[in-house]
Amino acid sequence: MDGKTFNRYIVVALFLWVVNIFGCTFTHGNLFLRDYAARRNINIGAAIMADYLEETEYTDIVVREFNLVVPENHLKWSYVHPEKDKYDFSAADKIIRFAQKNNLKVRGHALVWHKSLPKWLTPDCNDSEPNKVSYNKKELEDILEQHIKTVVTRYKGKIKYWDVVNEAFEGNDNSGELRRTFWYNILGKDYIEKAFIWAHEADKKAKLFINDFNIGERNLKSDALYEMIRDLKREGVPIHGVGFQFHLDTNKKPDFENIEANIKRFIGLGLEIQFTEIDVAICGEMTKEQLELQSEIYQGLINIALKYPQVTAFVTWGVTDKYSWLSRYAAEVLKSETFYGSGLLFDENYRKKPAYHAIQKSLNQ
Ligand code: G3I
Repeated sequence: MDGKTFNRYIVVALFLWVVNIFGCTFTHGNLFLRDYAARRNINIGAAIMADYLEETEYTDIVVREFNLVVPENHLKWSYVHPEKDKYDFSAADKIIRFAQKNNLKVRGHALVWHKSLPKWLTPDCNDSEPNKVSYNKKELEDILEQHIKTVVTRYKGKIKYWDVVNEAFEGNDNSGELRRTFWYNILGKDYIEKAFIWAHEADKKAKLFINDFNIGERNLKSDALYEMIRDLKREGVPIHGVGFQFHLDTNKKPDFENIEANIKRFIGLGLEIQFTEIDVAICGEMTKEQLELQSEIYQGLINIALKYPQVTAFVTWGVTDKYSWLSRYAAEVLKSETFYGSGLLFDENYRKKPAYHAIQKSLNQ
């Protein structure tokens, strides 16, 4: 090779090296989860609270890292429908305005649930006691239809996805029974299809989801959900997707092969899939090993999500451990002596955790 050709090779090699360096700097230096996710055609989001929208550390992360938000509580009955003939959309509107200003998609949560119901509707809104019946079937049907149509119509074109029915099945993954909720007890199981029909009548373009937990793997609960959706879709009920909540913890590492096979069968029904309320609580104490296990679980989930274009959203149930529901759940429900919490991608000081980097790595493959 003569000297001239050799020099030309050196120049080209140098040029490619410089481009690669700048290229890497640019891509890694200024990219966030939402940028990586966009390249993989999946939405990445978080549940947010209107209470924290004045906190710049909170909103900076939401706007920078996510392209989708879901009101953690502010679209629930107790917030939007505090009295029989009164709606209060102030907090929900604040979230929608924030989302629109920052070009964030919105999931609505939840049009029908047995919790967070206002006192005028059912005095004892909880699971443990059968609620006192306040209305007969026709009255309650009219109330439910009006609620759904009022709320969905208000956010028509602004809320792209709705959790129409939330947690319709018994919590235990080996039950497979429909939960005997306030709604079921008065309206019968038809409340489910009616809710979807009414939501669809209010916004034909919204994607309507049924959302639940303990359905990630094949079990009696996910089997029962699968069969119900299959039958309802055969009847033409407008159910478009399934929300897998994925409230997990480091006590039990999921069987990812089982989850993938389960997701595939729901995809086989022509459904869109979204991972809607992801958190992976640390159990026991906050050790390096626990954080690594947490990131493995997050990575296992995102890797499944990225394999199927029908999985369209990966949503954590909160932004920062500082405001996660897990703290209160551990203290008031689990009453656990040992630590249980810190389930999100950002810690209580808004620092990225290993799980954040694990997800970023998978998104960037
Ligand atoms: O905002 C009030 C506050 O003013 C008051 O001082 C305080 C004391 O009671 O309560 C605050 O409201 C609480 C609200 O969270 C906001 O923090 C409610 O009592 C409490 O019940 C509510 O809990 C929410 C729970 O759903 C019940 O609605 C959790 O934040 C929320 O993370 C949790 O989310 C659910 C999903 O909707 C469905 N899937 C399971 C998931 C976890 O339980």
